[in-house]
Amino acid sequence: MLNFISVIILSYLFGSIPWSLVIGKVFFHKDIRTEGSGNLGGTNAGRVLGKKVGITVIILDALKAFFSMLLASYIAKDAMIYAGLACCIGHCFPIFAQFKGGKAVATSFGFFLGIATFTNHQYFLQFFLPLLVFLVSLYLCRMVSLSSMIGLGSGILISFFIGNPPSITLSILVLWLFVVYRHRANIERIQNGTESKIKWMGKSLW
Ligand code: G3P
Repeated sequence: MLNFISVIILSYLFGSIPWSLVIGKVFFHKDIRTEGSGNLGGTNAGRVLGKKVGITVIILDALKAFFSMLLASYIAKDAMIYAGLACCIGHCFPIFAQFKGGKAVATSFGFFLGIATFTNHQYFLQFFLPLLVFLVSLYLCRMVSLSSMIGLGSGILISFFIGNPPSITLSILVLWLFVVYRHRANIERIQNGTESKIKWMGKSLW
């Protein structure tokens, strides 16, 4: 029980590391909370600090969830799914950044990677198929926010069809609802037609 609780707390703390804020402040002397969308995530880091930084932040944020689950796999296997979720909550409500964080997109993909690696080796479908849906959606609509919700939402169906235990599919559903809730300002902008779009062959990705 102590191991279980320790892993959850460590996962929350791990998720709380605001990579976009740290990299922005240390290397660019910029606080991305005051620029772009103000969101502490890879998309806004890319928007404000450049696409290479954005991709770096996305990878680091995804790895937070993956390593939380890796830690759980050693210390408390039963806590693995909860560790991934705790990491996503830490990312959105980081203790190291006044509880104002990101929208848990990259961390959710890290969660999918963790599921694919530690609980279900179905050729990593739980990770690669939602990523593919995300990329196709991004190509079509050019909105990271909408594509994130579609890509992560596809993870629920994929989890069901590849035969994950119902508890895993349910955890993905809960996480997706949480991600959609975190995107409520984006949803409003999508409805108004004012959501920012990425450029494909333009000068910058964001
Ligand atoms: O990274 C989260 C993404 O889905 C939206 O971010 O900055 O456009 O609100 P942003």
